[in-house]
Amino acid sequence: MLVLGIESSCDETGVALFDTALGLRSHALHSQIALHNEYGGVVPELASRDHIRRIIPLLEEVLAKAGAVKEEIDAIAYTAGPGLAGALLVGASFAQSLALALSVPVVPVHHMEAHLLSPLLSRDPPPFPFVALLVSGGHTQLMRVTQVGAYELLGESQDDAAGEAFDKTAKLLGLGYPGGPALADLALKGGASEIRLPRPMIDSGDFRFSFSGLKTAVLLQIQRLPPDRRADLAWEFQEAATEVLTVKALDAVQHCRLTRLVVAGGVGANRRLRERLDRRAATLGLRVYYPELDLCTDNGAMIAFCGAQRLMMDKSGATSPGAFAVKPRWPLQEIRLYVVCSG
Ligand code: KG4
Ligand code: ZN
Repeated sequence: MLVLGIESSCDETGVALFDTALGLRSHALHSQIALHNEYGGVVPELASRDHIRRIIPLLEEVLAKAGAVKEEIDAIAYTAGPGLAGALLVGASFAQSLALALSVPVVPVHHMEAHLLSPLLSRDPPPFPFVALLVSGGHTQLMRVTQVGAYELLGESQDDAAGEAFDKTAKLLGLGYPGGPALADLALKGGASEIRLPRPMIDSGDFRFSFSGLKTAVLLQIQRLPPDRRADLAWEFQEAATEVLTVKALDAVQHCRLTRLVVAGGVGANRRLRERLDRRAATLGLRVYYPELDLCTDNGAMIAFCGAQRLMMDKSGATSPGAFAVKPRWPLQEIRLYVVCSG
């Protein structure tokens, strides 16, 4: 079965072809970083218009790369939420119309479920069960994952998501968008110093996070320190954020009496986070799995893969093309059919 995946929830247009027998056939991505850079963040209307411009050329590109024609597509998966309403509508309406034209089913996919399953696409996929750390621009969650569709929320951020904290802190430090990678680069030029930031909720004894205070603490330091100390401040911010994520995520694995942690979402691309997780996991006898680097941030491959999994698991995930709605806000716990319980 050949599944076309379409991602358009934010600032990346991603298209991919996943074959349930052969694996990922091809994927292509267009990032809008250059488009939004001068505004310091994503401008929703510009994002929607750019998705419209890119989606057909990207479809042609993945078909050509896979040596396939669109008539071979058996189903179309698209991101139905969460994300920017206008941006989601571009992918959703394109997927629905193409499905209607090809007479194939459509699968609305939850963007975070797709992130969560993306490590299964890697060369060395994790076996079930595992704990997943979802760290993106909009979410910071720990989930116990027993199988595709069985997700138990162990805890999540009470305020800003980890990626959001990276982005907002980067902005305070005068860095461009997207802030996460820019902050990580600046941190490489800094190091340990007398600057000390809090590790929010590290001793809370549960799996909840809080990142908004960390950003405020950075602001206070910026007002106090000379500009040439910004790299040290970036370093300390990265230390604080990655320490909290590392400690809580591996505690969650032990709490669930499991041995595997799976990291997904854009912040999962952070090298310092990977270093810390790997080191601590090794001392605890645990193992950490990551998606391939290019599948950490938003992409069409994870949408095609997630859609394919849902189609194979139970056909109820698929619908005939027709009336549709997108869900800009959509807690993962609400995909009732697939979620066993929530914490
Ligand atoms: O998963 P993603 O591409 O989109 C969402 O679903 O949100 O995640 C984007 C987030 C942004 O906040 C970005 O700054 C962050 O991931 N990010 C990073 C790194 N690469 C991306 N944060 C820290 N270090 C990185 N290397
Ligand atoms: Zn994402």
